[in-house]
Amino acid sequence: MTNDIGNYAKHAQIWDWGGYERIEEFEYWCKYAKPFGNHVLMPFCALGETGAYMARKGFTVTAFDITPEMIEEGEKRFGNVDGLRLYISDVTDFCFDISPADFCFASDFGHIHTLTDVKKALSCINRHLREGGALVIETGLPYKESGYYPPKTFYPKEHVYPDKKVWKTGDTRNDAETGRCYISQTVFIEDMAGCVEQFEHAFYLQCYSRDIWISALLEFGFRIQNEFRNREKEQWINNDGYWIVEAIKKEGVKT
Ligand SMILES: C[S@@+](CC[C@H](N)C(=O)[O-])C[C@H]1O[C@@H](n2cnc3c(N)ncnc32)[C@H](O)[C@@H]1O
Repeated sequence: MTNDIGNYAKHAQIWDWGGYERIEEFEYWCKYAKPFGNHVLMPFCALGETGAYMARKGFTVTAFDITPEMIEEGEKRFGNVDGLRLYISDVTDFCFDISPADFCFASDFGHIHTLTDVKKALSCINRHLREGGALVIETGLPYKESGYYPPKTFYPKEHVYPDKKVWKTGDTRNDAETGRCYISQTVFIEDMAGCVEQFEHAFYLQCYSRDIWISALLEFGFRIQNEFRNREKEQWINNDGYWIVEAIKKEGVKT
């Protein structure tokens, strides 16, 4: 794995530093998955917080992440949740001994920096889904114009941990030519004695055009069932920069 994904390892213990309520997001995924079935596959799961919520609501969830520290921290927090399995694995090369999943969703494909790797991931996901099962991908589409968002400080809604305070600074640059979004952050952690530790989290997210996505999905055994512009499920409209695609595993196709 040569992708540079920044420093998720150091983030693991403080991944939920922002203090934001995520129930609306978790419920969105429960409601989306339900008509397709009970078994959910979840790449890029970080700590597996969404998976734990869904498992507590009765889903069987197979969640995985490439960063071992994320899964280790996830095991500490959610290891006792019935119906949740957490694995350390790369979305571009995974093979789990599980029954076929009904629903898979991913919002973090920007970490997959080449189309070859995107296709490997689609192939692996397809193999783990049942025919008629759904893959939902949420992604930004390439920027029409380059842009720069200067450094800004991000504070949590409220401090989450009793023994430390966490905040971040960061700037972002979008490059229309390459379809990349460069994110450069410094994470600060202050302990009870006022000592501040910091680490860098810098990476880029790669955007692919809608045409590239559609042709890769068709090539790897999916058909496009829906395209949305937001989580309210309004139809995607030409030129929208954000795209939610609902792809269905075709029947009788070997990939
Ligand atoms: C923005 S975080 C995901 C947040 C998560 N969806 C949540 O609900 O909290 C991106 C995650 O993707 C993981 N990741 C990056 N590249 C990956 C890959 N090739 N395979 C699996 N996970 C990957 C990182 O380790 C990181 O935990």
